[in-house]
Amino acid sequence: MFTNLSLQQNPPFSVPARFFITAPLFGIGAALVFLFYGSGMLVSRWSPGMLAATHALVLGFFATVMLGALQQILPVVVGVSIRHPKRVAGIVHLLWVIGITLLIGAFLWPANNLFYIAVIVLGSAIVIFVGTILMSLQRAPTHSESMPGIKLAVSSLFITLVLGVVLIFGHTGVIPLFRPGLTNLHMSWGLIGWIAMLVMSIAWQVVPMFQITPPYPKWLRKKTASFFLFLLLAKSLISFVSDSPVLSLLDLTVDILIAAGLLVFALSTLHLQRQTRRKVYDNHRYFWRLSMMNLIIVVILWALAEISGNPLFGLLAGVLFLMGFAMSVVTGMLLKIIAFLVWLHLQKVREEAGKSLRHIIKVPKMKEVISSRSSNSLIVILMFAQAAMLMALLSPQHFSIAAALCWLVFFCTLLGILGYAMFRYQRFVKKAFLV
Ligand code: HEM
Repeated sequence: MFTNLSLQQNPPFSVPARFFITAPLFGIGAALVFLFYGSGMLVSRWSPGMLAATHALVLGFFATVMLGALQQILPVVVGVSIRHPKRVAGIVHLLWVIGITLLIGAFLWPANNLFYIAVIVLGSAIVIFVGTILMSLQRAPTHSESMPGIKLAVSSLFITLVLGVVLIFGHTGVIPLFRPGLTNLHMSWGLIGWIAMLVMSIAWQVVPMFQITPPYPKWLRKKTASFFLFLLLAKSLISFVSDSPVLSLLDLTVDILIAAGLLVFALSTLHLQRQTRRKVYDNHRYFWRLSMMNLIIVVILWALAEISGNPLFGLLAGVLFLMGFAMSVVTGMLLKIIAFLVWLHLQKVREEAGKSLRHIIKVPKMKEVISSRSSNSLIVILMFAQAAMLMALLSPQHFSIAAALCWLVFFCTLLGILGYAMFRYQRFVKKAFLV
């Protein structure tokens, strides 16, 4: 399956595992904020609850999973590993968790000093991480098709941080708060440059590999990163020049091209999935299918928002991008990576346990690490939570609490599944060295 994977190049299990197990905890935090603020949170995109929950998700959940996955996936997709992986992961993880917690706290209980400390701590984590990844990519032996996309994604994370810092100076009153222009730009780099770009770059490798499909078309793999880089730079340039009808038209054209790029990606993935040669049931592909269908709906909602001028469609599109598209694909990948890693590292433990013991020690299969039943339940809960979230946006008074509870159940279930897989890993390692 992983033909170009080298066991030696793989970082120790604890490197990605600490990120993966932390992510659902921030998800639980976001659901609790939603539960506490209820419908009041949804009245404005600038409400403290909304900003806190958004960042608990985008940084605490999505980015935490993606940071862990990147450290793990780098040797596989670009053939290079991070130097001193344990030390880097330890420092980044500590600063990351403290920084996000402080930022969430600062949104909920605004205080200038809290904002500044959060920026310093979180900023240090991002600078160390982005620097380490970019330096590692310099040493990559081969030019992988995923490399430009990964470079763009991590650079976008850095740009999102810089724009976030400027916004924080706006929040603390040092400079004017350039709303909504700067916030929208910050969102574009974060959601498109960082999240969507990373998902796409990883998709080039993992969709054909795990779902046994033909590869994505060559032109798509080669051109996507430069296409999105050009559009994001154009968007940034437009937003810094003063407003005029011509520029608004140009901005709309850029948005249409971004939407078209996302649509092509979603349709290509669904088309590839139809050509799968994998006969065995594997629910990983359903997470991807759900994600791509959500992405198509996001594009339709965004178009409706532009045509009708009704901001509700825009809100639905934004929320569905995160909780539909990103949540489905990131959760699906997380389950697959954890199951694979536990299996892979246990093979290594078995090898190390010595020849005489190898026949006694039986490594569980990937399906036994995370059963189909538990991932099926998770996908059902996810679909309920997504539907409840949409209902809550349409009728906040009636559905907010139900939606918050659904998300709470979802993140607790995910935590349970990951925790159990890691517990099994620990138990196996102990047994292997005791027999
Ligand atoms: C991947 C990373 C990030 C993503 C995807 C992201 C996304 C977002 C989104 C979607 C909003 C708008 C919320 C809304 O309209 O309801 C927002 C606002 C904001 N973000 Fe981030 N963010 C990220 C990282 C950061 C970081 C690292 C910081 C701080 C250092 C930050 C600071 C802010 C601030 C201060 C606002 C409020 C803007 C305002 O009040 O107008 N963000 N972010």
